[in-house]
Amino acid sequence: MPDDDMTDVQLESRLREQEYFSPPPEFVGQANATDRDIYDEVGEFPEGFDRYAELLDWDERWDRTFDGSNPPFFEWFVGGKLNASHNCIDRHLDERKNQTAICWEGSDGTQENITYRDLYRRVNETAAALRARGVEEDDVVTIHLPMVPALPITMLACARLGAPHSVVFAGFSAQALAERTDSADSDYIVTIDGYYRRGAFLSHIEKTDEALDLADREPDVLTWLRHDEPQADISDDYIRMGDLLDEHAGERVDPVSRDAEDPLFLMYTSGTTGKPKGCQHRTGGYLAYVAATSKHVLDIKPGDTYWCAADIGWITGHSYIVYGPLALGTTSVMYEDTPDHPHKGRIWEIAEKYDVDIFHTSPTAVRMFMKWGEEYPERYDFDFRHMTTVGEPIQPEAWLWYYKHIGGEDAVIVDTWWQTETGGHLLTNLPALDDMKPGSAGRAAPGIEPALLDDSGENVPEAAGQAGNLVIERPWPSMLQTVYGDDERFIDTYWADYSDTDSDDWRDWTYKAGDGAVQSQDGYWRVLGRLDDVMNVAGHRLGTMELESAAAEVEQVAEAAVAPREDAQKGEVPDVYAVVREGVEESDAVRAEIVSAVEAEIGKFARPANVVFVDDLPKTRSGKIMRRILENISNGEDLGNTTTLRDPSVPEQIREQTVGE
Ligand code: WTA
Repeated sequence: MPDDDMTDVQLESRLREQEYFSPPPEFVGQANATDRDIYDEVGEFPEGFDRYAELLDWDERWDRTFDGSNPPFFEWFVGGKLNASHNCIDRHLDERKNQTAICWEGSDGTQENITYRDLYRRVNETAAALRARGVEEDDVVTIHLPMVPALPITMLACARLGAPHSVVFAGFSAQALAERTDSADSDYIVTIDGYYRRGAFLSHIEKTDEALDLADREPDVLTWLRHDEPQADISDDYIRMGDLLDEHAGERVDPVSRDAEDPLFLMYTSGTTGKPKGCQHRTGGYLAYVAATSKHVLDIKPGDTYWCAADIGWITGHSYIVYGPLALGTTSVMYEDTPDHPHKGRIWEIAEKYDVDIFHTSPTAVRMFMKWGEEYPERYDFDFRHMTTVGEPIQPEAWLWYYKHIGGEDAVIVDTWWQTETGGHLLTNLPALDDMKPGSAGRAAPGIEPALLDDSGENVPEAAGQAGNLVIERPWPSMLQTVYGDDERFIDTYWADYSDTDSDDWRDWTYKAGDGAVQSQDGYWRVLGRLDDVMNVAGHRLGTMELESAAAEVEQVAEAAVAPREDAQKGEVPDVYAVVREGVEESDAVRAEIVSAVEAEIGKFARPANVVFVDDLPKTRSGKIMRRILENISNGEDLGNTTTLRDPSVPEQIREQTVGE
């Protein structure tokens, strides 16, 4: 079509499509991945992934790279044995024992430079302490810790013992902690008295106190202290890590040699139905894949100072603060508090102080920095070579701001798409090999085979610019092994829709990501967002059903539904639509109860943006709530097709009630 026939919108999107940014030659000259052959070599399925596993130290080499004989329970590096803690610590001691492994910046001006030798000592003593308290190989240890050194140290101590950890983000409530402890059959909770938020001490241990009342299990509690002396009441039943460590000072624990397929950790994540799922990750395939992507995608080298400003309590922190970077022997920065404390230049001040080379954050954070203005980064002298975004689509406008004002137009940006379930990056450019395109994750990572399917499972033509359901057609080493304790749910959630579930040929099995995506003519992928009832609030994944069941716990509420509202800052925020019981007044008091129910069940970070009272919810004839319609109402869009509703007048009524709010 000639340009003058195009509408302005088409023209604009065509122009945007053509906007590329090349990696600077200085970057390309020093990058880890500079040879395009990597795509062919790793793509040689499955042995291509051997080169990833070869980045690690193995106690015994694997006999087979891949076993697909029992789909979708795929096995990787079968017969191999290794220990993740050894790979992240011990093997670096010869060459870099005095190099900082973790550089921790506390909120109150405290700072710790933990060298690889210190890390070795502290992880060994912690492992000895945990073992003395009865932790054995294969016991699941629940860790409810904020961004303090004790968190990676406890994780690595568990890995040393072969005890899978299940880290519960510190912002999760007591209820969420109790559920995850029960669900993981965990007999241990590791916590801390408190930590700092915006400069103020926040008591944390009370969530464990409450979780013990709520949980069915009776886990032992081990607690760290933020300072030498406790800053909160600690039950006499809890074991103090400090005392235990004194008893085990100087002890060493041989790393337990784990089968490649033995689980390394569980990470609970929100899904469409019911309770959060415990994504179970294996030791060998996971560690190999995150080490390789840290090397090729994040371009990490041992001499770098790398800072991923995520929280270790989510998958990004597991893969790209702890396991990937430490497996490569680099220096990783951790910061305890929020980016605006004590001032809005805090991030850049830390970047200057430690001379950070590689910086990794979320689009939500970039939008916030952009809103605060470029005068903050301009005050500090930092120089990133490489920057990453993860967790949500990044708008071209935010991308351009990040590129210009944070990267100084000479750092590369990689936009990485992946999920808790995928363990590591799946859609992303290799930064020295491909041009950047704002708003687009870029190509498939080496060895990864994405595709788009329509709702009936037919292929959407490749590189056609058409939207579809994003799927991955071939297994990869860091994919989740299963949903802990629930193989059926694993199959139903990720495989059943697009696989021939009767087949025992792995080629007939297709992984459903749950995201919508587009592949444009140049082959670049753009991920549009979730197609299921999962929201992305400031990069945190939340299930609408979890929010709804929390709201419905409130006595005065008869029924509740939740829809995502688009938000300039957080990407999405939850709106609650609630129907009150007969005779109950729709009041601010009930509203407040709904909000606090959500905070209690999940955590403050899940707080609803709005609570709207309605007379009825839009439902199909079979009684299913049509959340799409609520989403359209929340976002001021057309209602869409309402003909399948039991009562087609409900959405209009809601709209009127909403406008009246
Ligand atoms: C979304 C976070 C667009 C997506 C690592 C996915 C993204 C969900 C991107 C997983 C990206 C993640 N562009 N969307 N670069 N990265 N997402 O499990 O919807 O917390 O399904 O893992 O975040 O969130 P999760």
